[in-house]
Amino acid sequence: MEPNCAYVSMWVLYNQGMVQSYKLSRLKDASQLTEVCWAAFAFREADEWQLGDTYRIPKAKQTVLRRFLNDSQAAVWMGGALSGGRPRSMLVSGKDGLDCYRVYAFPASPMHLILVGVKSSLDVTGQRIWKLAASVENDSPAVLPPATEELGLLQQTVLELQQTQQELQARINAQREAEARLIQAAKLAAVGEMAAGVAHELNNPLTTVVGFTELALEDLPIDSPVRADLDLVLKEARRARSVVRRLLDFSRQAETVRVKADLNEIVDDVLMLTKHLMHTSNVQSEIRLGESLSWVLVDRNQIKQVVINLVNNALYAMPEGGRIVVETAEQQRYSRNWITLTVRDTGVGIPPENLERIFEPFFTTRGDRGGTGLGLSVTYGIVTDHQGMIEVESKTNSGSTFIVWLPLDKVP
Ligand SMILES: Nc1ncnc2c1ncn2[C@@H]1O[C@H](COP(=O)(O)OP(=O)(O)OP(=O)(O)O)[C@@H](O)[C@H]1O
Ligand SMILES: [Mg+2]
Repeated sequence: MEPNCAYVSMWVLYNQGMVQSYKLSRLKDASQLTEVCWAAFAFREADEWQLGDTYRIPKAKQTVLRRFLNDSQAAVWMGGALSGGRPRSMLVSGKDGLDCYRVYAFPASPMHLILVGVKSSLDVTGQRIWKLAASVENDSPAVLPPATEELGLLQQTVLELQQTQQELQARINAQREAEARLIQAAKLAAVGEMAAGVAHELNNPLTTVVGFTELALEDLPIDSPVRADLDLVLKEARRARSVVRRLLDFSRQAETVRVKADLNEIVDDVLMLTKHLMHTSNVQSEIRLGESLSWVLVDRNQIKQVVINLVNNALYAMPEGGRIVVETAEQQRYSRNWITLTVRDTGVGIPPENLERIFEPFFTTRGDRGGTGLGLSVTYGIVTDHQGMIEVESKTNSGSTFIVWLPLDKVP
């Protein structure tokens, strides 16, 4: 990518008539493009070859090169390149002090050559680059730039390369996302399995505790001194049971029923339930339901739970009030059609160090206020079960956006 851009940028300079002051930078540009050992301008003056601008040749070495220029064999060879108007090259490996394997001579004007020392022969592209660098000699307007069609070809190549690079980058990104999802899925699967076992063991005893406490309370005189204690037992046992239920949901042991459904309807149902809560928490809502959305194959209850979890999290993130936006839409991505659900809030946001952990089971920053840290992991489990994706963007103190992508059709 880079080399070709620089190659073309040399062209731009040329076309804008700006090359005069770029003699040395031309040597640099072309050298970097072709990884040469050194490069130099050489010109003939009074039957002697002189050294002009040089690149990567320290002062001491310049004398070696000067000596080489005026060595009779080299002088004839360079004269040939100049009069023939064609590049030539010469094997010099082993020659004292030149530190390269081959030297190329590219005619730059009726008087000038560009000499290039390389560790291994220049390939065709390398030679074209140097021909180009030589052909923009400033004091020789007679030297024609490479044909327009060559320029066209070059630009075409650059465009193609840019396109390939973009495609490659998109694939790399998709691959990374897929890897991240896999890791997340593996983590959740391990915890899920363990959670399912524990939840199963706890479910029955908790149901017994709740049931018998309720019975005991029914029989207890209204003014009994242990009533408050038993109320507390009941409250906590119910809380524990709800955690267990969510764990069981998380491990997806509950039966799922998939039907074609209108996401807008599901969202409406949930918003009806949370309307009151929004009002009392001083949160303004903006609901933008996409028109005539295609129906999507889902388990309605599970998706309802996804919406509830996201809306609840948004509300908890705005204890002082704020604004919640709930949006549905039909979108395309990865050549597929999706239904998206976006829940955006203007709440406290999620610090970067937490962002990677929010989908982990039991990760919560609201432990003291009854958070179990299961909402998002359940959500994640449900969405991936539907072959969907969930994305989050958040900035501390300015809010968070969760987007759920549910696929409409099978992989093409
Ligand atoms: N919209 C949001 N804004 C800010 N932080 C959020 C938001 N959604 C989730 N979080 C963070 O992610 C954590 C995990 O969320 P999750 O829904 O899994 O659990 P919870 O809300 O803490 O508890 P639970 O949902 O079980 O009641 C939260 O504790 C909170 O720190
Ligand atoms: Mg939650």
